[in-house]
Amino acid sequence: MDWHRWHESYADPESELSQRLEMVRDQVRSALDACPPGLIRVVSACAGQGDDLIGVLRDHPRRNDVAARLIELDERNAGVARAAAAAAGLGAVQVIVADAGPTNHYRGMAPADLVLLCGVFGNISDEDIERTVSIYCAQLCKPGGRVIWTRHRREPDMVPRICEWFEGNDFAGVWLSEHGLDFGVGVHRYTGEPCDLELGGHMFTFMPSRQ
Ligand SMILES: C[S@@+](CC[C@H](N)C(=O)[O-])C[C@H]1O[C@@H](n2cnc3c(N)ncnc32)[C@H](O)[C@@H]1O
Repeated sequence: MDWHRWHESYADPESELSQRLEMVRDQVRSALDACPPGLIRVVSACAGQGDDLIGVLRDHPRRNDVAARLIELDERNAGVARAAAAAAGLGAVQVIVADAGPTNHYRGMAPADLVLLCGVFGNISDEDIERTVSIYCAQLCKPGGRVIWTRHRREPDMVPRICEWFEGNDFAGVWLSEHGLDFGVGVHRYTGEPCDLELGGHMFTFMPSRQ
């Protein structure tokens, strides 16, 4: 998969991916609206070109409160995200070229108010999804913070299982896209105790052959 070309679908507003992006952006907006006054930390794993977060921050009233780290392996995508953040005057949006699986890359930014796991769960094993949700999301997300995630709904449809994993691990469902679409977008809020980030941990291995 050429992950740079993958983003071309966003140029067509009718594409399924553009519809997903709009849903994610709506949820990013709501999550930022719900943040208490002060610094808002955001982390995005496998951030691509940063369309979801940067697209919202451009004109969001909390834009100057946000410090973000976008973790993306493809240098071309990271370059696009960096340029978009700079063009929007978002000096506290950092883009790093790195593997989003190891926890060390989230150091200093976790626990965050908002964790984006978009385009991740369709590209990692079910075991890695479960591990990420049940162990690491509580470390990445501060109490009251939200995780926004996506997953395609091809059979076997994992969306219900993913919701169960979140809800069995101190996360409360905030929003889930309607059934019947080819993709799922979910939002879960962390209701548990603060957790330290386990440095040296490994959340998932991104599998390029899967989609
Ligand atoms: C399905 S796209 C999602 C991009 C973005 N989150 C979105 O929803 O628009 C997956 C992204 O993960 C990136 N990627 C692949 N392996 C990665 C890894 N190990 N660590 C970080 N990013 C990775 C790809 O380059 C690609 O940009």
